[in-house]
Amino acid sequence: MKCFHPLLLLSAFLLLSTSCKEKEEKVDPIAEKPKAPEVTISPEEKRLKEANKKLGWIMQDMEVPEYKLDRLLKKGEFLSDDFMKYANEVIKNARKLKEIDHPDTKLVGLGKEMLTAIDSLEAAVASKSPEKLKGSWGALTKKCAACHKDYKKGGGGY
Ligand code: HEC
Repeated sequence: MKCFHPLLLLSAFLLLSTSCKEKEEKVDPIAEKPKAPEVTISPEEKRLKEANKKLGWIMQDMEVPEYKLDRLLKKGEFLSDDFMKYANEVIKNARKLKEIDHPDTKLVGLGKEMLTAIDSLEAAVASKSPEKLKGSWGALTKKCAACHKDYKKGGGGY
């Protein structure tokens, strides 16, 4: 056979062009999406991660009442309804710390110190004494700051 049938040539051309296209389409996605590396997380790491996540939630819930209390104290409004409301919110949230199974014993220790100061704040709220409220809030925020110094990244708050 000396010459090729035109149909044969056409189909050969089509075959070649589609196989080239296929090649392009196949190569790109693979290059763009490398397979995610297998992540293995140890039970210790998981416990730490879980605990820090829960700690972050508690802290987030304290942001507003902490700010409000601070403002009210600066204005000298110790015994307003708002003051009592926000003080109770801080107390309630801070005590959730007890539910966290945190592997870092130093952090747990700092948390316990804060909880003792929370008990004093609660007693001060019950006493309705401005001096006690001012004193116990001052003592409490020192405990907040002590933990933040070592464990909280970024600025703001105590
Ligand atoms: C046992 C350690 C510890 C104690 C005690 C502690 N904190 Fe925190 N706090 C943290 C850590 C850790 C973060 C950072 C959390 C994060 O970014 O996930 C944080 C963050 C915060 C934030 C920022 C939250 C946010 O979402 O940006 C506020 C507000 C806060 N704490 C308030 C308080 C107050 C008020 C007290 C005391 C009544 C207190 N914390 C006591 C560890 C502590």
